[in-house]
Amino acid sequence: MVGKFSDNTIRVILCLASIVFFGLALVVIDTESWAVEQDVAEEKQPAAQQQLPPDPDKDREASLAWGTELYGHYCTPCHGIRGDGNGFNAHKLIVKPANHTDAKFMSERNDQKLFDTINLGGVEVAKSTLMPPWGAALNNDNKIKSLVMKLRDLCKCKATKNW
Ligand code: HEC
Repeated sequence: MVGKFSDNTIRVILCLASIVFFGLALVVIDTESWAVEQDVAEEKQPAAQQQLPPDPDKDREASLAWGTELYGHYCTPCHGIRGDGNGFNAHKLIVKPANHTDAKFMSERNDQKLFDTINLGGVEVAKSTLMPPWGAALNNDNKIKSLVMKLRDLCKCKATKNW
């Protein structure tokens, strides 16, 4: 009788122990998968929001990659994904957005002029106000320089005149 009683007690203890064990195991697994989800969420942030842009004079390749990303975000709605001035907004504008793949047109503007156009907008270079100023939104000279580099990459050209 005493032996049977203690057998039952052992069974109850084993049963309780396994409930606690599996309970703990579930908590551990859940915490780990939560940690993995956190990692994935952090990786999804675009590179442009994680770090500061490189100095274009020191790392041209990385700067051009930035320029490409920023161009895709800010410029393609009007200038088009190919940069030819045919963005999805272009037909609504009374002044046609510039064709950045036009080497003759783009080589008539030097890098400083392109910088000023992006920074201060069309009106500052005696062009249409429909070309908006981006200085405040970008808030970083290296970002603007990376966009100038992207423009030079699109036109495959350099400035031929010094204005
Ligand atoms: C809301 C539409 C719009 C967006 C967005 C836009 N532009 Fe423009 N852009 C224009 C228009 C319109 C012109 C033509 C202005 C003119 O000829 O008077 C222009 C002209 C230009 C020119 C040529 C100026 C010149 O010297 O003739 C450059 C360079 C330029 N844009 C760069 C950019 C860059 C870089 C971006 C993204 C950061 C951008 N634009 C975003 C509308 C836009």
